[in-house]
Amino acid sequence: MSQAYNTALRISFEVRGGLIMRQMHHWAALLFMAAIVVHMFRVFFTGAFRKPRELNWIIGTLLFWMGFLEGFCGYSLPDDALSGTGLRIASAIMLSIPVVGTWVTTSLFGGEFPGTVILDRLYITHVLLVPAVILALITVHMGLLVKQKHTQWPGPGRTNRNVVGVRMFPGFAAKGGGFFMIVFAVIAFLGGLFQINPIWLFGPYKASVVSAASQPDWYVMFLDGSTRLMPAWEFRFHLFGHGYTMAPVFWPTVVLPGILTMLPMFYPFIEARFTKDKAIHHLLQRPRDVPVRTGLGAMSIAFFVVLLASGGNDVIADKLHLSLNATTWAGRIGLLLLPPLAYYVAHRTALGLQQHDREVLARTRGAGERRLGRTEEDEPGGRPPAGGARLLLPDRAAARADAAGRGTHLARADPRGDRHRPALTQVDTKKARLTPGLLRCQAQLANDLPVSSSVLRSLRTQAWPPPAPWSSNAPETIAASAGAPSSSWVRVSEQTPS
Ligand code: HEM
Repeated sequence: MSQAYNTALRISFEVRGGLIMRQMHHWAALLFMAAIVVHMFRVFFTGAFRKPRELNWIIGTLLFWMGFLEGFCGYSLPDDALSGTGLRIASAIMLSIPVVGTWVTTSLFGGEFPGTVILDRLYITHVLLVPAVILALITVHMGLLVKQKHTQWPGPGRTNRNVVGVRMFPGFAAKGGGFFMIVFAVIAFLGGLFQINPIWLFGPYKASVVSAASQPDWYVMFLDGSTRLMPAWEFRFHLFGHGYTMAPVFWPTVVLPGILTMLPMFYPFIEARFTKDKAIHHLLQRPRDVPVRTGLGAMSIAFFVVLLASGGNDVIADKLHLSLNATTWAGRIGLLLLPPLAYYVAHRTALGLQQHDREVLARTRGAGERRLGRTEEDEPGGRPPAGGARLLLPDRAAARADAAGRGTHLARADPRGDRHRPALTQVDTKKARLTPGLLRCQAQLANDLPVSSSVLRSLRTQAWPPPAPWSSNAPETIAASAGAPSSSWVRVSEQTPS
């Protein structure tokens, strides 16, 4: 067995706490990559990558690939049968690169695979070079974040020109510290109780030994999947009087990752070009309000999931007693059908949710008055009784509801936001079910109780600032998505009896 494998075994069984450290380190790597991917989705689906944050997005995609490389270098170090197989595949991928492949492999492995220097080189890359690059990129990433400020959800007082949030010290720092402790506890829990990468079961790597069910860590599996689904198409060509062969593994493991790096990396510019959107954006968007982007996001997730599942098609075939050929073809057909289907479903769902918003707006604008009875127009002197709930709706929503003949002209909003007597409409909680506060209001009305100030307070807190800015049914979000200028935002105010 190699020195590397021996050392890893000794860390596991001879060094006190060595095994839990190894396990925590491996679980942390899996969570690190999962956190990066979730963060990337958050940024993508809410449009936080738009101008001026394109550069931070590009740095982010580099961080993803650096995390990928760091993980691969790390789990290749113990030199057990599994990591050795991974290195073997890596050398085959390098060899498949036309013209320069053999040079790259020889220089990296110091000769024919497995060579004698690769583990030393991977070691220093893993413990120093890549962490330094990641640290540098994160520093730039955070620097840009501090300079550009964080995006925010639209809401009362939140505009494209300001940032509403918690101060870094002490609020955010304390929250960040608490979150760090929780993440550490989860990793320690996993490292202590859930076995991972048991190299003593795999045995030392021998180049002549390869076993089935050799899967890499989850963030590399899509590359394994793409390789397994690629048909054995070999291309031969001549260049400068030499014949070259382009092995089938070249496409799914070199060309595809190249596309999967460039496309996401330049996506902000591609979207800005198609939408002709050159504006600066500090406000986030709800996925339902951008159906095409949401559809594209769902499509790429489906693409990755099919590839990821195909990376374990031998295990699936074994567990489900299917032929490996069947699972391979299922993956190929799935890769062609599922992404466009995911696009269609996500796109239609987003349009459906938009339609739902419009209905809620139209309903909240119209029917509410009747149920809660008196509105300011009904009252002599035009003010609702104390304790009445009030909602200011944007013009366009009101106009649309009016155009559809669904309501009375009560809720026409005064865009100047007339401080003295804004035109307000009562909310029909039975129909609207907008927020928990309104539901409580409904409950009190149902029990014939006056709408208590606590409900109004919760309604106000609901709207100022909104508790869950992206909760799709919050009137302010609906109002926002209906394009209300921030000044005529939903404002729930208690009318003080004159
Ligand atoms: C090691 C990996 C990464 C770390 C440690 C990291 C860290 C952070 C943190 C702490 C924030 C501010 C809080 C937040 O928005 O969640 C942020 C914002 C951001 N990140 Fe990352 N990130 C990483 C990877 C990525 C990736 C992979 C992408 C995209 C491909 C990305 C794109 C962005 C963008 C565009 C922002 C600004 C978002 C905004 O202002 O709302 N980051 N990053």
